[in-house]
Amino acid sequence: MTKPLTLLGIESSCDDTAAAVVRGDTVLSSVVYGQTSLHAAFGGVVPEIAARAHAEKLDHCIEEALAAASTTLSDLDGIAVTAGPGLIGGVLSGVMCAKGLSAATGLPLIGVNHLAGHALTPRLTDQVAYPYLMLLVSGGHCQFLIVEAHDKFKRIGGTIDDAPGEAFDKTARLLGLPQPGGPSVEKAAKAGDPKRITLPRPLLNRPGCDMSFSGLKTAILRARDGIAAEKGGLTAQDQADLSASFQVAVSDVLIEKTRRALAIYADLNPATPSFAIAGGVAANGAIREGLMALCAQHDVAFIAPPLRLCTDNAAMIAYAGLEKMAAGGIDDLTLSARPRWPLDQRAAPLLGSGKKGAKA
Ligand code: KG4
Ligand code: ZN
Repeated sequence: MTKPLTLLGIESSCDDTAAAVVRGDTVLSSVVYGQTSLHAAFGGVVPEIAARAHAEKLDHCIEEALAAASTTLSDLDGIAVTAGPGLIGGVLSGVMCAKGLSAATGLPLIGVNHLAGHALTPRLTDQVAYPYLMLLVSGGHCQFLIVEAHDKFKRIGGTIDDAPGEAFDKTARLLGLPQPGGPSVEKAAKAGDPKRITLPRPLLNRPGCDMSFSGLKTAILRARDGIAAEKGGLTAQDQADLSASFQVAVSDVLIEKTRRALAIYADLNPATPSFAIAGGVAANGAIREGLMALCAQHDVAFIAPPLRLCTDNAAMIAYAGLEKMAAGGIDDLTLSARPRWPLDQRAAPLLGSGKKGAKA
């Protein structure tokens, strides 16, 4: 048996500075320095602030990841780094840091697509066989991918505007609930009546797996203003009912679109049919349960990696780098940072750009 490769992973494409050491499919360490407090006052990620914070923190983060894994640079087989898509300043910070380390140590450099990192996580955590269906659903991403190989992805649908996490965050802001919006809307929804406010189910009347979430937050704004005008403000029960109505609308859309994506995937006759989710929205209990039930109906394994590996991290980058390196995909010092880098080059580009940068 060949010795498993050991890679350092570096991630800095958005608002998390992360480093990790992965050996084969074992995560030896994974360190994430969040930047939430730096951006809190601005209602979104400020690219310049993010880039500067990455440049300041990367060295410390890498040192911490190496120490936590009880490794040194000389134990590594390569350095994997997110080379896009994302906020260009942040991606550049990571790529320059990785190039410096590679030039100094002679270790191979492997440029990784951030979305490939998310999409390959079910292989790191559950050794899922290709091909599998993946739903990436976070504050910055929302797409269905059929993952056929470490470098072969078919995008069969995605959001044409906001990502669902973004819609949760905006809804929380409209209702006066704390950020990040997903967990606070979910918490409020527990005491709410999901039938009180009738909200649209965008794009459900159109065939295919594309989604849209920006209209939902406008509908929430109107419903909120209607209630506030009538009663002179929102009660906690109003907040709960609005939250529950919003959450069930998002969940209905995701479940119906997943049903359609599963039908497309089934046409490939996969030997071990598997559906995996990743991204912060995968933490939502109602959405997760709905998707789990759908998979059970279709005899498809449901895979939800632990949340710390679903949200932005560097272990997924190290692992994606490991698969790429094992297939001979080594880069050199000409590796460039790519703000846009679609996983499926043949798919039509997605519109807009999320609060966390390009959706690719
Ligand atoms: O994957 P992630 O940490 O970062 C990126 O967006 O890349 O996802 C964060 C997003 C936020 O928009 C947050 O509101 C949402 O995931 N989120 C949730 C829940 N927990 C986090 N959305 C719905 N329900 C949740 N429980
Ligand atoms: Zn991400």
